[in-house]
Amino acid sequence: MSGQPEFASEEYALHRDRELDHPLARNQYLFPTDANGKPISYMAGNSLGLQPKSTKAAMDQELDSWATLAVRGHSHGENPWMVFPSLLAQESAAIIGAEPDEIVMMNSLTVNIHLMLASFYQPRDRRRKIIMEDYAFSSDSYAIRSHISFRGGNPDEDVIRLKPREGEDSLRTEDVVAVLRERGDEIATTLFGAVNYYTGEFMDIPAITAVTHDVGAYAGWDLAHAAGNIPLHLHDWNVDFAIWCSYKYLNAGPGSVAGAFIHEKHHAGTIPRLEGWWSNKPETRFLMNPIIDPIETADAWSVSHPPLFIMAPALSALHVFTEVGMPALRARSLQLTSYMRELISVLDPAEPGTEKRVHVITPSDSDRHGAQLSIRVPIEPFALIERMYVNHGVLGDARNPDIIRLAPVPMYNTFHDVWRAVTALFAELKS
Ligand SMILES: Cc1ncc(COP(=O)(O)O)c(C=O)c1O
Repeated sequence: MSGQPEFASEEYALHRDRELDHPLARNQYLFPTDANGKPISYMAGNSLGLQPKSTKAAMDQELDSWATLAVRGHSHGENPWMVFPSLLAQESAAIIGAEPDEIVMMNSLTVNIHLMLASFYQPRDRRRKIIMEDYAFSSDSYAIRSHISFRGGNPDEDVIRLKPREGEDSLRTEDVVAVLRERGDEIATTLFGAVNYYTGEFMDIPAITAVTHDVGAYAGWDLAHAAGNIPLHLHDWNVDFAIWCSYKYLNAGPGSVAGAFIHEKHHAGTIPRLEGWWSNKPETRFLMNPIIDPIETADAWSVSHPPLFIMAPALSALHVFTEVGMPALRARSLQLTSYMRELISVLDPAEPGTEKRVHVITPSDSDRHGAQLSIRVPIEPFALIERMYVNHGVLGDARNPDIIRLAPVPMYNTFHDVWRAVTALFAELKS
């Protein structure tokens, strides 16, 4: 490492973890280990978060309630199953910046996209289009296109897909705003990824939401890569609806329950929605009337009774965010990502400006990114990620055609994890 700045040494990373910037809640999570029993450097929490140590007990508690209380578990026990969604909503409120009444935890993410579009996509006359980023996660595209077909529209005409400028990797807010202003009377709904899964860019939610409203459309956000990653203020930003999953930064486990936010201004209104018996007020639910007596909160969008075993792991996982707090999480996240960027720029052995050099496509402004850095690499990315895992115990992931994604998760990753990831990347690029 001679000739490198001091911060590029392993000793510096270890010293920073031990003496200066202690990990936030690392000891609350279970880490996969390598063949020698050493924890791997886990850089894939943007895809699937690590298991909290509390998860097993949380699952066991509900299994015990089922075993000992059976049907009485709906209304008895430590966390009666009927109130489970509201416990989750309370733990989620500070994460997304909403009132608990504006949150309903239910289903999985793509199902919630459909439920929200049933309400917030109301094509009429000329106003039939949904606007999104061209490089959105596939499921969002499929949900939007199928929804448009379902309403008798033409998905090839009714989706506006925004691309970055030639030679750029992410969207500029001013360009999104310009399209909204130009084509405002055609747009029914906007639905962007708040943090894009591919580029890691964080969109300007308040600015885009405000212009969406100016032109008379509804503003929706997919928070899959934003919830638990960046502090959000959905209520104050006046967002109409949002959806997210809880298996990424929120660490609730594969396939765990998803979330939906519906701003309180829509709760008592006439906006249509798909309903079931769990959309009915609890007091009159068991009267089994054929005509609904709707709840006047986001719960009105919940269709079925709570799927307990995808909810139980979420409750204890979300509680860690209440303990740590989003501001502390964000402060540490910015430290880890800027350290990763600095390491990449000083350790890249290729000459600046050459095609062999790696390139971070995630925007560098601190208000335009979260924990994930997406890095364009000069070789096939899937094989590279596999070699980083097998040879160095570093686990990130890859996306076609030339991107690797490394996410130092502020809740549990360390400076040393980051150092291991970046040195593994360049060791493999050199070999
Ligand atoms: C942005 C985004 N949207 C949608 C999905 C699909 O999620 P699910 O399979 O939980 O519906 C994902 C999954 O990673 C995602 O990242």
